[in-house]
Amino acid sequence: MDNSADSNKKQAIRVSNLTKEFNGFKAIDNISFSVEEGEIFGMLGPNGAGKTTTIRILSTTLKATKGEAFVWGYDISKQPDKIRRSIGIVFQDQTLDDRLTGMENLDFHARLYGMKRNLREKRIKEVLHLVDLWDKRNTLVKYYSGGMCRRLEIARGLMHYPRVLFLDEPTLGLDAQTRHNIWEHIRVLNKREKIAILLTTHYMDEADTLCNRVGIIDKGKILIIDEPEKLKNMVGKDLISIKVSSPEKMMQILSNFEWVSNKRVYDGLLHLEVTEGEKRIPFLINLAQRYSLSVDLVSLRRPTLEDVFLHFTGKRIREEEGTLRERISARIRSRRRR
Ligand SMILES: Nc1ncnc2c1ncn2[C@@H]1O[C@H](COP(=O)(O)OP(=O)(O)OP(=O)(O)O)[C@@H](O)[C@H]1O
Ligand SMILES: [Mg+2]
Repeated sequence: MDNSADSNKKQAIRVSNLTKEFNGFKAIDNISFSVEEGEIFGMLGPNGAGKTTTIRILSTTLKATKGEAFVWGYDISKQPDKIRRSIGIVFQDQTLDDRLTGMENLDFHARLYGMKRNLREKRIKEVLHLVDLWDKRNTLVKYYSGGMCRRLEIARGLMHYPRVLFLDEPTLGLDAQTRHNIWEHIRVLNKREKIAILLTTHYMDEADTLCNRVGIIDKGKILIIDEPEKLKNMVGKDLISIKVSSPEKMMQILSNFEWVSNKRVYDGLLHLEVTEGEKRIPFLINLAQRYSLSVDLVSLRRPTLEDVFLHFTGKRIREEEGTLRERISARIRSRRRR
C-alpha cells in the first residue's frame, strides 16, 4: 500500500533549499516554502524572478540543481508520475487548441489522462459550470475572448481532479473587469474543490486579495513570506492626513497619544502615522471639535503590497512594466499568427 501521500496530507507542497542553475546562472537560489492543503499561496515577483522556473520544477518538467521538494507528499526527483497525476497546471502562455470547441479541448485532455467516458462527461460538465462556460461549450475556442480562454484553461487544469493547482500568471494582460471575474472563479474553485493553489503574479492587487500567504521573490530569492495583512503591517503604519483649521495646534494636542508614532505638517495638512487607522478617525474628529478646530478633510492610506515590495527589494515592481508590455504584445502577436 502506498502511504506517501497520506503522511504529508496537510502539506500540499514542501520546498527545501531548492536551486536551479542555467550555465552557472541561478534562476532560483536556495528557496524554501510550503503550501498547505486548501491554501492559495502567491509568488509575487517581477520578470525573470524565477516564478515559472519554480513551477516547472514542481510540476517535474525541469530538474532542480540542488535541494528537494514534495508535491502532495511525492518526491519531485523520485515520483514524477505520481506528481503529474496529482497536479493541474495553467501555463503562463496559452496552450488551447483554438480549432476545437471548449468541450473538445477538455475532452482531449481527459482522454490523455485516461478518464473513462462517463467520468469525462460528468467532469466536463462540472468544470465548465465552475468557470461559467457551459453555455459556450460548443463554440470554437478561436471565438473566445482572452478571459474565456483563461477560464477554459483553468477548467482544463481541474479536469482530472488534481489536489494541487499551479496557475502561472493567471490574469496576465487581461483588463481589470476580466481579472476580477477570474479571481472570483479561483476563489470559488478553491472552496468547492478544497484544492491547494500555487499562483504566480506580478500584480500586487491579485496577490493581496486572492492569496492567503504571499512570498516575495526577486532574482531567484524568496525575500519574505507571510499573510498580505502582516506583510503590510511590517513595513509601515497607517497614514492619516487631516485638513484642519490649525494643523500646528492639532499636532500639539496629539503630543501624548502613544498610537501616534510620527506627526508632520506639510502642504497645509497634518500627517500622522498611526496604528489601526480606521478606528482613529472618529476620535480625531471629536478631539478637533472639542478644541474648536474645524476638520475639512480626513484621508487614510494603508500600506500596500507595493510598499512591501519596495521595502524588501529596494525597487518598485512597476519599473519592470516596460518589459511586461513588450511580453504581452509578443504574446498577442503569436496568438494572431496561429
Ligand atoms: N531554459 C533556460 N535557460 C537559460 N535561462 C533560463 C531558462 N529558463 C529561464 N531562464 C532564466 O531564469 C530566470 C527566471 O526565469 P523565469 O521564467 O522563471 O522567470 P519568471 O519569474 O517566470 O518571469 P516572468 O514574470 O517574465 O514570467 C530568467 O533570468 C530567465 O531568463
Ligand atoms: Mg514566468
